[in-house]
This record gives sequence, C-alpha cells and structure tokens, in this order.
Amino acid sequence: MKYQLRCKKCGRVIGDFSAWLRQDQQCSCGSGYAEVEYLVPQHMPGETPATKSYQDYYFDILPLERRDSIVSIGEGLVPIERWDNLERYALRKGVECRVYIYRNDMNGGSGSFKDISAALAASVLKEHGVKEYCLASTGNAGVAFATYLAQAGIRFTEFAPNCIDPASVEAIRKTGQPVVISKGGYGAAKQEAAEYHKQRHVLISGGNTDPLRIESKRLLVFECLRQIGQLPTVYMQAVAGGTSPLALEKGYRDLVQSAICPGARLPRMILVQQDECDPMVRAWEWAEANGFPDGWEQRYEALPDIHTRIGILTAANPGNYPLVAPLVRRTGGTFLRVSEADLPQYGHEMEQSRGLLLGPASMVCYSGFFQAVDSGFIRNGDVVLLNTGEGCDRAGWFREEVAQCH
Ligand SMILES: Cc1ncc(COP(=O)(O)O)c(C=O)c1O
Ligand SMILES: [Zn+2]
Repeated sequence: MKYQLRCKKCGRVIGDFSAWLRQDQQCSCGSGYAEVEYLVPQHMPGETPATKSYQDYYFDILPLERRDSIVSIGEGLVPIERWDNLERYALRKGVECRVYIYRNDMNGGSGSFKDISAALAASVLKEHGVKEYCLASTGNAGVAFATYLAQAGIRFTEFAPNCIDPASVEAIRKTGQPVVISKGGYGAAKQEAAEYHKQRHVLISGGNTDPLRIESKRLLVFECLRQIGQLPTVYMQAVAGGTSPLALEKGYRDLVQSAICPGARLPRMILVQQDECDPMVRAWEWAEANGFPDGWEQRYEALPDIHTRIGILTAANPGNYPLVAPLVRRTGGTFLRVSEADLPQYGHEMEQSRGLLLGPASMVCYSGFFQAVDSGFIRNGDVVLLNTGEGCDRAGWFREEVAQCH
C-alpha cells in the first residue's frame, strides 16, 4: 500500500480510501477529519512534465494506486505568473517584493480552483467503485465536480443555494448531472445535501477537511518549487470555507518530513473577505481587540443576513474558523476585509495593466493585495503568492460592471 489514512483526532489508522469511504468518511471515534500519510518516501518529480494531467505528473505522491484510475480532462499544472504591475505598486509604497499569481483560471479544467480537488476526487472514487456522490456548493465546486464525475461515469447531485449564478447552473446541467436549487442560502443547501446523503446513503463531499481536497490542493507548494524555485513568504486568497490554507499546511509538513525542503516555513497567510460577507474577519477583529484570550478561536458568529453579489463567497457560517484562524495566527498572518463596491474598479485596473479580467472571487484576493501593501502587511523582500481561483466566464454581470468603470 502506498498510503494510509490516519484520524486527526484519535490518531487511529483507518486504512485506505476504500475503508474510509466504506465507513462513511468517519473514524470509529466519530471524527470526520482524517489525513493521508504516505508509506513510501515522497519526492519531487524530476523532469518537466510531459503530461497535462497533474495527477499523472504527481502520481507517486497522490493517494491513487492505479494510473488507469486517473480521471482527467487535461487539467493540470496551474501556471504561476509574475505580475510586475503589483510589484510596481508595492514599490511606489516603499516595499520591494516579488508577486506571483497562481492562475487557476488557466488550469485547463472548468477554470476554477475546485478542479484540482474534483479531478482527484473523481479518480479516487472511481478507483474504489463509487457510483454516486453529492455536494452542496455555491457554484465553482459544483461545476468542477459535475464535470469530473460525469467523466468518471459517477452520478453527481449538486445542491445549490438560491444565489447560484445561472451560468454555473447551465454548466452543471450541460454535464447531464442534476442540480437541486434550494429556496434558501448556502446553509440551507448544505442541510438539504446532508439530508439527501443520510436518506439515500449517497456519499457526500467531506467538506473543508476532506482528505481528497487537501491532498490535491497541497500540491500548490510543490508547484511553487517547480515553477519558481522557492516557496512564498506570503500567501493570499479569498476565503469562504478555508480548505486551501489547511492544504497548504499539509503540503509544508510533507515537504519537511520528506526532506524535499527540510527548512520550509509556512508563509504568512493573508485571507481576504469582501465586506458584504466577512464573518471570519469579524471574528478575527474581535480576537485581536481582546488580545486572543483562551478559546478565542471558538468565538465566531454566523451572519444572519448577507447581501453579497459574489455568490461563490457566501459562507455566512464560518464553521472552519476554529481550524483556520489558529493557523493564520501561527504564520503571523491576518484576515483582511475589502470593499465589494470597489471590485469593479480593481477589475478595470487589471484590464488596463494586464489585459485580462478575473472573476469577482479572484478580485477579492487581488484587491486584498493593494490593501495588504497599504496596511503594511507586505514587507521588503517578500515573495507573495496570490491564489486567485476563477476566471470571469461565468460572471457576465461583473464584466458589465467593470466595462462601466473609467
Ligand atoms: C474562486 C474562489 N475563490 C475563493 C473561494 C473560497 O475557497 P474556500 O471555500 O476554500 O475558502 C472559492 C470557493 O468556492 C472560489 O471558487
Ligand atoms: Zn479517530
């Protein structure tokens, strides 16, 4: 066996994904949080990839036993670009740094940073004979899972909140997979998915700590080494649930333990939310103002009423905050709030300086960079990585608003 899953709560070895899926993704102690542990040494694949599939390239360090399990539509090795317009902005503010963008919109899949997770999930589920799966998602994950699971011949049901954008619904329907649109928001869609899972015994995505998502997303740190020859000192993304920060931490631990990069240190994590849906920022501000008292990470509130137009970032109940926030603190990072009303203007700036436009969830991260510089969170010598997660294909409304900016 190449890997095994170990429970994060009690430390028990669970076995492979076959065992994990058979026991409904739960350890016998009741915990639903397990991590993949490799039983063979992890290594950095050597040569330049001759493949478009990241699973093929990183096969030796993924929890897959057979190459013919790989489900791929050519997604893969996400380009990392250096964006000098952001470097020049920082320099004007007296900060000399390098800035890289992880271009998930160019990943060759359905164009969001959920493809990486969905591709591995489809492969592992196929490897273990799973026939049906479901998930609640605000859009990008739904499109990605529908696409990859259709490719694997696995029936998939998407449970969407009422605010899901029509283009995502259409993209899912095109794959032939069903979409159930809730009358309520993301919280209601999650409940409906959980109900469906329970009543129909259909496997459901394990959420933000799902080892399938973590294992695929952790490869971002390997990609930094491959493409830019170093690890970032600052990591930024728009955060909703917060899977990627946990995945990054796992990736770093793997680099250290496997001696690929024994001295690897986690980057300062700067996680950004738009002011119309910012429950993690609020909780963090409370903790900061109160000197991070005992149990601070458990102090967060769900927002009862949100009005954000960014359907992708509508996690009003930040259930993963108790895991993510201590990690952010450990890295010396922070949570940042940006103005949703300002995003079209940043979109206009991006079109002017880069000749392209990313989707609104990506713009939350992008505008966060300017704010991070202005607030002194970026320092001389930093290597900053922005994990932007989507292109603008499914957000016509945003493109129109940007077109009206001068
Ligand atoms: C483009 C984009 N950015 C950010 C996020 C937030 O990611 P997470 O839920 O892992 O925090 C999402 C999630 O759907 C996304 O699609
Ligand atoms: Zn356990």
